Amino acid sequence: MIIAVDGPAASGKGTIARALARHYKLPHLDTGLLYRAVAATVLREDLTPEKEADAVSACSFEDYLLEDPWLRTDEVGKIASVVSAHPLVRAALLHRQKKFAHQPGGAVLDGRDIGTVIAPDANVKLFVKATPMIRAQRRHLELRKNGILTSLDKVLSDIRARDERDSKRSEAPMTQAADAVLLDTSFLSIDAAVQRAIAIVEAAKAKTTSAPA
Ligand code: CDP
Repeated sequence: MIIAVDGPAASGKGTIARALARHYKLPHLDTGLLYRAVAATVLREDLTPEKEADAVSACSFEDYLLEDPWLRTDEVGKIASVVSAHPLVRAALLHRQKKFAHQPGGAVLDGRDIGTVIAPDANVKLFVKATPMIRAQRRHLELRKNGILTSLDKVLSDIRARDERDSKRSEAPMTQAADAVLLDTSFLSIDAAVQRAIAIVEAAKAKTTSAPA
């Protein structure tokens, strides 16, 4: 079973995807980390993220980089959304993601284009969203917990800028697949959101098993 979980920053898609992977005992890939690894390499090698050739040259990073906590910072996230707009960067990371999605037994992947580009054939597609203000509040709290003091306004404007870049790019823009189920987590606790996601997967499974051959 392939489960595709897409959605914008701080919507809860990562938490939901991890919980689904645990629940269904499936391997999980956070595809944002791949773009973050490209961004981190660009930053470290002093390359220019806006230049496609520079970003492409950063795509052959070593796997151990994916474990680096620096990748999870906002600094790297912002550059990830710049490098991810380059078609050749997306092409360079495509095979790895498709292979992960289509491994025997299935997988859970989260990102922006899983249900539309990486696994349009996914058995279940979720599009997780929440209002920009709620997402900004979550990110703000998370940053504060990590000792990073910044204003809510700044976090909100960063989130809006990232949404804009991710949904307006010409290549694989962030968009809800026609057959994806929308899950709005704005007013849901983590537990409630996960329970809702499991119910959506169960409903999809029941539909497949009851469908005539
Ligand atoms: O969780 P958060 O949205 O903060 O970040 P992420 O999922 O790690 O993604 C970082 C950036 O990578 C996003 O802003 C997207 O521009 C890009 N991305 C993408 O283009 N396609 C994906 N499948 C995953 C991430």
